[in-house]
Amino acid sequence: MKFTIIGAALFLLQSFLLTEAKREATPSKPNILFIFTDDQDAKLDSIDYMPNLQKYLVQQGTIYRNHYATISVCCPSRVSLLRGQYAHNTNITDVSPPYGGYARFSRLGLGDNYLPIWMQEAGYSTHYIGKLMNEYTVNNYNNPKPKGFDYQDQLVDPFTYIYNTAVFSRNGEPPVYYNNTYQTDVIHAKARDALKRQRDTDKPFFLWVAPMAPHGQFFIGDNGSIETMPAVPATRHANLFKDVKIPRNPNFNPENQTKTASFWKDMERLNDTIVEELDEAYRDRLRALQAVDEMIGSLFEELEEQGKLDNTYVIYSADNGYHLGQHRSYPGKCSNIEEDINVPFIVRGPGIEKGKISDVVSSHHDIAPTLLALAKGDEYVPDWVDGGVIPLTKDLERHPKPVAKESFAVEFWATFNMAENYPSIKIVGPNTYKTVRVISDNYNYMYSVWCTGEHELYNLKDDPYELNNIYGNTHIQLRSRLDALIIVLKACRADNCRDPWRIIHPEDPSIKTLEDALHEKYDYHYTQFQKFTFGECENHYSASNELPHIGSHFINNITYIHTNSGSQAVFSAPRNQKRDETKPDLKSIPEDILGLLYLIPKPEQAGQFSLDEDYEKHSVPVPQELIDTHINWSEYGFYNVGS
Ligand SMILES: *[C@@H]1O[C@H](CO)[C@@H](O)[C@H](O)[C@H]1NC(C)=O
Ligand SMILES: *[C@@H]1O[C@H](CO)[C@@H](O)[C@H](O)[C@H]1NC(C)=O
Ligand SMILES: *[C@@H]1O[C@H](CO)[C@@H](O)[C@H](O)[C@H]1NC(C)=O
Ligand SMILES: *[C@@H]1O[C@H](CO)[C@@H](O)[C@H](O)[C@H]1NC(C)=O
Ligand SMILES: *[C@@H]1O[C@H](CO)[C@@H](O)[C@H](O)[C@H]1NC(C)=O
Ligand SMILES: *[C@@H]1O[C@H](CO)[C@@H](O)[C@H](O)[C@H]1NC(C)=O
Ligand SMILES: *[C@@H]1O[C@H](CO)[C@@H](O)[C@H](O)[C@H]1NC(C)=O
Repeated sequence: MKFTIIGAALFLLQSFLLTEAKREATPSKPNILFIFTDDQDAKLDSIDYMPNLQKYLVQQGTIYRNHYATISVCCPSRVSLLRGQYAHNTNITDVSPPYGGYARFSRLGLGDNYLPIWMQEAGYSTHYIGKLMNEYTVNNYNNPKPKGFDYQDQLVDPFTYIYNTAVFSRNGEPPVYYNNTYQTDVIHAKARDALKRQRDTDKPFFLWVAPMAPHGQFFIGDNGSIETMPAVPATRHANLFKDVKIPRNPNFNPENQTKTASFWKDMERLNDTIVEELDEAYRDRLRALQAVDEMIGSLFEELEEQGKLDNTYVIYSADNGYHLGQHRSYPGKCSNIEEDINVPFIVRGPGIEKGKISDVVSSHHDIAPTLLALAKGDEYVPDWVDGGVIPLTKDLERHPKPVAKESFAVEFWATFNMAENYPSIKIVGPNTYKTVRVISDNYNYMYSVWCTGEHELYNLKDDPYELNNIYGNTHIQLRSRLDALIIVLKACRADNCRDPWRIIHPEDPSIKTLEDALHEKYDYHYTQFQKFTFGECENHYSASNELPHIGSHFINNITYIHTNSGSQAVFSAPRNQKRDETKPDLKSIPEDILGLLYLIPKPEQAGQFSLDEDYEKHSVPVPQELIDTHINWSEYGFYNVGS
């Protein structure tokens, strides 16, 4: 008895000493957990339906409500975040080849110098679980294997967008599927295991968890054509929120269309049948987010249990936003309305205020430099990075490379409207535009120049739903400043993106904001600027199609006229606006390839597994014939529906 008591006391003492030792060895560098969903809006209240997100992040951290994706579609937005650059600098401007996708990302060398590698250089153990980017497939999963991860377990196409078929490649190994499971649950289990593996190490970790939810489901139908449908919830969540509807904000399916650009103006008002379908699609998004929310709860419990919560930053965001019915739209993203570009950005961690809403303006390309600042690894961020450090903490407020003060560009290149779930809807105007957003305490503007030569200007201070295009009746003073700003931001690099006024007013460093530049003493200066126009409506980025360039932006610049023979038209009205309104001709997938795809079962409803069981026992290798058959997925339109 005595012996046992002494034994127990010794044991207690020992564990006390061990805990103390661990506490002392607590890494000075904080851990970072980044949870990143796919197509989640900030403007349509989706986070209000996520109780764990509210409890652990919103109430214990800060919401940055002016955080934006500068290109509102998956692959370009993800690459922008990974590289800390605008899409005009990554030149990944589409989801699919030839202008986007994993193969182009690799070919351009973008994956040789990007966020996970910088985090490793800063001493972090790096982990990625979930959706990396479009066109990372069963065929190219190891060609090359994504660089910079100590552990990676990524979803592979063409199965990424099938909720009840979870197919992953782990650490560049041949892909496996988890039979009869719900994809988000597998990501949940893998993410929790990734945290558990960090339990006994002192090395700081960077864990990126990227569920595909609440993205719409895409799958290959029985006849070999691509079919799209709303998000698919886990069976246990399928009946929630029966009475919830899309918020009926003033821009929801308005009686009169007020958007003036070709892309919008001919959209017909949605009838009640379609509105009901959209409401159901909205509910399915909220339902699909419930499995994500369960994961959030469980990751926080794990961090708490390990005693790591106080030294961990947890960040929640999404690659781009989403619209359903706003300005009469069918479901999708890719446009420049607030619903598409404004994304959740919620941060909790040491030095971050609790329960606060911040108005700081930031974009996805600021996230990489900000994480490196938290990781005390600034020296690993290359000079060419466009983003700056978001002032999350008092420390970061003093960072020498801050975010752009109030303005950023939003861009897109597409010749047709990518509307999900409704691939057959009428083609509307081309979707190539450059937008600048300027947000401060005193003003809030959205200014767009479309490839068609059309302009839109909204004053979001008075008109948060972007219903009243004031371009035609806005004073030239404001328009001229915005026109100059767009010339710089449309093609900016590095410092110029963070401080565009240095380029516009090289002689006057006191000008730091639109307000400063609006002074009438600069009116003449602005009359000298050419107006920005697109040459043609193109589906990709070509610098020579987007003139003028900085350096030749003054109307009286003789050099410009000499070196750009025949480009006189830049000075006058928009040039010939070629409009390619055709969707690509798509083939159906031939039977032999279909046969290969059906080697992986596609259950209607996935089974549920307990987090306590070994989910790896559900894994089945993807058949080698499928891995070995090189399939040109874009030929079948796999990515063209707007993933
Ligand atoms: C996959 O799960 C289904 C349903 O439980 C089962 O019938 C089938 O045998 C499983 N397949 C494999 C390869 O385990
Ligand atoms: C394939 O089937 C879907 C319905 O399941 C239909 O909408 C589509 O037009 C069909 N495609 C072809 C090429 O037959
Ligand atoms: C829509 O336009 C019509 C015709 O101009 C007008 O009578 C009506 O009041 C407008 N509706 C709204 C909601 O503004
Ligand atoms: C509603 O609109 C859709 C798409 O234009 C159309 O196919 C459908 O027939 C309409 N339904 C009714 C009841 O008008
Ligand atoms: C971007 O990619 C396109 C298409 O591959 C190419 O034509 C262009 O030169 C690239 N870069 C720039 C800066 O335009
Ligand atoms: C005129 O263009 C040249 C070459 O593009 C450039 O170096 C120069 O700075 C420009 N001058 C002005 C006033 O913009
Ligand atoms: C894949 O298909 C697309 C669309 O048909 C085509 O443009 C592209 O050249 C093809 N790629 C390869 C590598 O064959």
